[in-house]
This record gives sequence, C-alpha cells and structure tokens, in this order.
Amino acid sequence: MQDKNGVVRFSVSLPPSIVEEFDEVWKSIGYESRSKAIHDAIRAFISEFKWASTETEHVAGAVLVLYYLDKPDLLEKVMSVQHKFRDIISSTTHIHLEEDKCLEIIAVNGKVGEIKRLAEELMAKKGVKQVKVAVVAP
Ligand code: NI
Repeated sequence: MQDKNGVVRFSVSLPPSIVEEFDEVWKSIGYESRSKAIHDAIRAFISEFKWASTETEHVAGAVLVLYYLDKPDLLEKVMSVQHKFRDIISSTTHIHLEEDKCLEIIAVNGKVGEIKRLAEELMAKKGVKQVKVAVVAP
C-alpha cells in the first residue's frame, strides 16, 4: 500500500539490541535518518540476493584481482582472460603495488553468470592470489 507520497510504510519487529547497534552504525557514518539507512540496507540485501541467486540478472561493479608476478606469462594470461570477456568489461585499472605484486580493478557491467565466469577463470590462474567481486543491481 502506497501513501500519497508514493512510499510504503510497514512495521518490523526486531530485538532491541539489533536496533541499538543499527542506530549506532548509521549515526556514526553520518546518515541523517533511520529510514534512509534502512532503505540502503534493503537495497544492499537485494543486490546480494540477486547476485547469489540468478545467472541472468544484470549487475555492474568491479572485480578486484591481486596477483604476484612470480609465475611465467601470468600478465599475458590475465590479459587474455580479459580480452575473452571484453563484452562485459568497461575498463581496467592496473596498480603496481610492489616490484612483483599487482592489483587490477576490472570494471564490469553485464550478466551475473558471465561475471562469475570471469572471476573463476582469473582465480584459476597460478599466481593469482585473490579475486573479489563487488557488484550492485541497478
Ligand atoms: Ni603491475
């Protein structure tokens, strides 16, 4: 049910300790109202759920890849995986962390299933230490 402002109001039952902790968190990061904090929390929940549950959902975000240059041809392999998935990659930022350690931030925009496969192919390469995916459902 929407009211005249186009919003839905509903009541939620929660243990007081959770509410207390939630209020502390949104106040500490500068939110001005509990409603805005709950709105964003629900949106984050939806993004998480969609990411986990559907292969065809459209999402956008970033894949972080940490790798060490101690394996032969790793740079070429990481690059060739990205060429293969060029349809869902908007851009890549390469950060030289140390002499032999690199971080790549791959901006992605596409279907969940394809982003998962990109992440898996990168993870499978010897020398790739960590792959993290952070996406939102627009
Ligand atoms: Ni580098």
